[in-house]
Amino acid sequence: MPRQFFVGGNFKMNPTSQGQLDSIISVLNSADLDSTTEIVVAPPSLYLIPLKQTVRQEIQLSAQNCFYKESGAFTGEISPAQLVDSNIPYVILGHSERRSIFHETSEIVAKKTVAALTATLKVIFCVGETLEEREAGLTTEVVQNQLQAAVSHLQVTDWSCVVIAYEPVWAIGTGKVATSAQAQEAHLNIRAFLSQAVSPAVAENTRIIYGGSVTAANCQELSTQPDVDGFLVGGASLKPEFVNIINARRIQG
Ligand code: PGA
Repeated sequence: MPRQFFVGGNFKMNPTSQGQLDSIISVLNSADLDSTTEIVVAPPSLYLIPLKQTVRQEIQLSAQNCFYKESGAFTGEISPAQLVDSNIPYVILGHSERRSIFHETSEIVAKKTVAALTATLKVIFCVGETLEEREAGLTTEVVQNQLQAAVSHLQVTDWSCVVIAYEPVWAIGTGKVATSAQAQEAHLNIRAFLSQAVSPAVAENTRIIYGGSVTAANCQELSTQPDVDGFLVGGASLKPEFVNIINARRIQG
């Protein structure tokens, strides 16, 4: 079975008004979207519930983060149980901004991943190297270490609810997209790692999506790579060109 193309929009801490959010969503609601693409948008958490009423049903919602406890004295956090109770199917975990700005270690990300999957959420699990790590030839090692933290704690069956987002930190929000050869090489390495660390079937079936300065202009070439199964889009997901990214595979015919 071919892996279903997956495109996620990570709105991050944008936009700053309900009116702007309505404009972004109305573009998506009226667009001709490829019905074979799985589409997910991740707005700031306080917009998740209102968006359920306004976004078309083919578009699923994702939180941008959650904590690893079910409830309790954790000011500012949202639990997997609360997301499930609100019928939010996805959560992004391990985004590089969470890792660098909010000091989330791979162990914390792994705990969150286990908690989210146990609560029946699906997880967009982010990995990626910094520029210094790439230049030092450490890309594969860094990405494998980030994956290993989760691999050690997940059951084989959990992987059907995980999408891996390879997001080189140097490409996020910089306008410096990875070349399709760089993305393909990293994705192939991730798949090879999953094959030996989990199982060949999990490696074959798990979607590995690329994130980092994806735009309408570069998405088509990236999407022709055999191991690029979609995108996690930041800045461009707030713009009408997000529609072209969702349709990247269809446009090729
Ligand atoms: P970008 O962000 O598309 O703005 O580079 C991607 C991401 O952080 O998921």
